[in-house]
Amino acid sequence: SDALKIGIAGLGTVGASLARILQDRSEKLAVTCGRPITITAVSARDRTRDRGIDLTDITWYDDPIELAAKADIDVFVELMGGAGDPADNAVRAALSRGLHVVTANKALLARHGVALAALAEEKGALLNFEAAVAGGIPVIKALRESLTGNTVSRIYGIMNGTCNYILTKMEKEGLSFADCLKEAQRLGYAEADPAFDIEGNDTAHKLAILTTLAFGSEIAADDIYLEGITNISIEDIHAAADLGYRIKLLGVAQRTESGIEQRVHPTMVPLDSVIAQVDGVTNAVAIEADILGELLMVGPGAGGNATASAVLGDIADIAKSRPGAQQVPALGRPAAKLAPYQRAQ
Ligand code: HSE
Repeated sequence: SDALKIGIAGLGTVGASLARILQDRSEKLAVTCGRPITITAVSARDRTRDRGIDLTDITWYDDPIELAAKADIDVFVELMGGAGDPADNAVRAALSRGLHVVTANKALLARHGVALAALAEEKGALLNFEAAVAGGIPVIKALRESLTGNTVSRIYGIMNGTCNYILTKMEKEGLSFADCLKEAQRLGYAEADPAFDIEGNDTAHKLAILTTLAFGSEIAADDIYLEGITNISIEDIHAAADLGYRIKLLGVAQRTESGIEQRVHPTMVPLDSVIAQVDGVTNAVAIEADILGELLMVGPGAGGNATASAVLGDIADIAKSRPGAQQVPALGRPAAKLAPYQRAQ
């Protein structure tokens, strides 16, 4: 049968995990997907590092845009990160050729998602990004597919593993903020620039994507009320516990009379709530929908394998899709109105 040829741009924590899993499980995947999945090309900055991947027969590109524009592939997997020109241009180059794209890049989607989704639709290509929000939790599938027909009134949750890891370690092990962050970086949870984690931008990017899917609004990450965890002290955490609360960095989007309101900030959640029990790198996403009721999904939010698991699911979906079949629009057509968050005084 016809192999699905994939090119991976970026062999960092997630890219290397994905490549190892694809190689280790190639036989099983060929059966479940109905056809083999083969890595035919990669691009990464450092050619010499041993990543535990067999690179025989894989074409190596130095430039991800060249990989996207020229390689003999069916799917371009973007795992470089960053919302700047390299990732944006590479994804555009791939979509322009009609290649399917799988990306874990929330910063890119938060900035250019609507344009990229439109380009994908125009070219009849799939743009899949399950790994961009809440790591391994299948929240994009839930919103795009399972909840079709529901009207969502609220979506909220813990969407940054690094912050939740820091808050948990500070409370349970009494470690300093700086030491917890270092450990999160060592474990491959943090962004290349961890300011995006601890200042809340990463949560805002993810929330903006969920808001668009849940409510059919524009993506507007820059308009989100934003407060990170850099000012949270161990004293704050203990004071909250004395009052019966735990501090979590939440992203919240909800329908109000004036539009969809979005915010990201540290929040006191009651100790006996499920969300208060979500520890470490684990994420949680709650969706309140009119037909279903309340859905709560909890699972690994960051790290090589958890993220690669979601990327792999997206690749498998493409392997199983039939050419020319009607595609689910990647981001819908933005219509709903956003409203600025008015902080209660
Ligand atoms: N830095 C992110 C986090 C990675 O800690 O959640 C997953 O998006």
